[in-house]
Amino acid sequence: MAPYGARAKEHVDGAIDLSQGTPVDPTPDFIQEALQAAADSPRYPVTIGTPELRAAMRDWAINTLGVTGDFDVLPTIGSKELVALLPTILQSKSVIYPKIAYPTYLVGAMIAGAKPIESEIDATTWPAADLVWINSPSNPTGRIAPAEEFQAVIDYSRKTGAVIASDECYLGFPAGAQQPISILKVAAGENKNLIAVHSLSKRSNLAGYRAGLIIGDPEVIAKILEVRKHAGLMVPLPVQRAMTVALGDEVHALKQAEKYRARRAVLQPALESAGFKVEFTNAGLYIWCSRGESDWDSIAWLADLGILCTPGHFYGPAGARHIRVALTASDTDIEKAADRIAKAGRP
Ligand SMILES: Cc1ncc(COP(=O)(O)O)c(C=O)c1O
Repeated sequence: MAPYGARAKEHVDGAIDLSQGTPVDPTPDFIQEALQAAADSPRYPVTIGTPELRAAMRDWAINTLGVTGDFDVLPTIGSKELVALLPTILQSKSVIYPKIAYPTYLVGAMIAGAKPIESEIDATTWPAADLVWINSPSNPTGRIAPAEEFQAVIDYSRKTGAVIASDECYLGFPAGAQQPISILKVAAGENKNLIAVHSLSKRSNLAGYRAGLIIGDPEVIAKILEVRKHAGLMVPLPVQRAMTVALGDEVHALKQAEKYRARRAVLQPALESAGFKVEFTNAGLYIWCSRGESDWDSIAWLADLGILCTPGHFYGPAGARHIRVALTASDTDIEKAADRIAKAGRP
């Protein structure tokens, strides 16, 4: 990416970075205050979370995700770290993940020395495996899995005994009428071998705090907890306090989702006017699009406009004719980028 970054920087009006999914809006004040109020923190934090945080996580799981039945919760240091370490913690020998996906699923399998298996969406085509990653809404595509698709994944798990880790970090960012759902809602209380992975990084602009959580089968969570008790990875107490208030408030999360929806509404038509076909723009923080050319050609064209995006093959070879455009930039930068793209038009 370095040459394209350098090219983008040469633009007379400056470079606009739409290549990283990193939040740019401020952490809400009430969350910062909770963190600051817990600055005096001499003891080790509790791995399972404070009673207040555990109650907030459970309430959020029930009220926002629709989780029922027997389930447990556990705070995590971010969710990238959890994704990277879960196959190691569960001692998985084989890991399935989507063929266009967040790269850490593959990296986590490699760290564990497990066999990585790229999969199609349809769970009826999957071979046996110990651990399966699914991701809806998807990074990078923005695709939302419908309930039938989750049901097929649950049926696969029932048949094979595989643990399903459903990465739902972007669940709070719908872009159209279709609402993303949690695998645990589809499971309707039968949570065996299912865990949902959530993050406050984007929902609450807490990427710098490293705050995530998992929800699901108490037996799977007990296994993870047992390792974590000895391996550390406890969430710092000030972050636990910040998570507690963040999970207790939906207003700021809805406002943030609205910001991304508005940014998408500015950027997407500009990309379309320049010949990009936008796919699966149902949710999440990215626009996944293609002009039917190599991803590097699209990246080069945008770099000449001073705009940096991500080539699709970074998410697997099947993405080699797509690019990912992140909506995680200020309103001003998104407007500037849309203006440059619309003015350039079709090449
Ligand atoms: C699909 C997906 N899962 C997990 C993560 C990790 O998020 P965090 O570690 O900030 O919680 C990301 C971050 O971009 C992601 O795109």
